[in-house]
Amino acid sequence: MSKDASIYPATNDTIAQAGDVLTRGGLVAFPTETVYGLGADATSEEAVASIFAAKERPSFNPLIVHVPDLETARSLVEFTPLAEKLAAAFWPGALTLVLPRKAGVKLSLLVSAGLDTVAIRMPNHPIATQLLRAANTPIAAPSANKSGQISPTQASHVAQSLPGKVDMILDGGPCAVGLESTVVDACGDRAGFLRPGGVSIEQLEAVAGPLIYPDDAPDAPKSPGMLTSHYAPTLPMRLNASTRKDGEILLGFGDCEGASLNLSPTGDLEEAAANLFAMMRELDQDGYQTMAVSPIPKEGLGLAINDRLKRAAAPR
Ligand code: TXA
Ligand code: MG
Repeated sequence: MSKDASIYPATNDTIAQAGDVLTRGGLVAFPTETVYGLGADATSEEAVASIFAAKERPSFNPLIVHVPDLETARSLVEFTPLAEKLAAAFWPGALTLVLPRKAGVKLSLLVSAGLDTVAIRMPNHPIATQLLRAANTPIAAPSANKSGQISPTQASHVAQSLPGKVDMILDGGPCAVGLESTVVDACGDRAGFLRPGGVSIEQLEAVAGPLIYPDDAPDAPKSPGMLTSHYAPTLPMRLNASTRKDGEILLGFGDCEGASLNLSPTGDLEEAAANLFAMMRELDQDGYQTMAVSPIPKEGLGLAINDRLKRAAAPR
């Protein structure tokens, strides 16, 4: 299969073609409501291995398995009462549930990096759903970027980040949410918060009650993917910048002066989330020493935005 990373506008024909590529063990980048995913057949050890190779992703970091419907999810993992409640409230959507792998299921072992749990999500995007049905197999899909780089929210970002590494890139326009899914451990009767994302803590707690945080308990489950430096642009970052200094390019939020781009001039956190990764890419330019970013409130989606910015600013 040639890996020319061609971008195909998503149509019934190209989605069917992409479904065939997946069934044959190839790699397809596809849009979801959160970010673009790099998909492969989650039941094939070779196909899943090729995701890790294409992204240069450490193999201890497990992948999310994507399904088109709840029945498929239930066939792969043990649904706890908590998982039922969360899926009813947030699926399809930007929530990933970590659940015990069902005994004897035909899922690659590499997909969960040797853990006895599997992260699973039903995306809320018509193209993703149509592709998952066409492939007719669960699809492992991390964000479609080179490991450690900024996640893609447009098809062109995938082509830039993984040149020559993908069989087919399906273009479905920009992603509406713009941040990866929230990851929750739903194996027990209290929800373990593993990664902030497109579903806010406030929304989760309204359904699941108080969450457990990995820092609270040394034996609480952790998400192996929460490496400190991640989502990194080339320029160093300076966060909570109230003004732009010499040599800096400013990514603004709300009412601020001197910003080259503004995540949301009106201070809307959903708009800011949707713009975050694309604007970080756009400002990551030669000729500047630092990318400064305005303060972002730590509420609602602001928590996930601050998490991604903190990782982008972390020492590399
Ligand atoms: O929005 C998203 O979640 C996107 C789209 C494509 O669906 N996918 C995505 O995948 O962000 P990725 O691979 O970049 O992030 C998966 C996260 C990692 O932090 C990983 O450590 C965690 O999920 N994870 C996967 N399986 C896990 C498991 N069994 N237990 C704990 N954490 C797990
Ligand atoms: Mg990622």
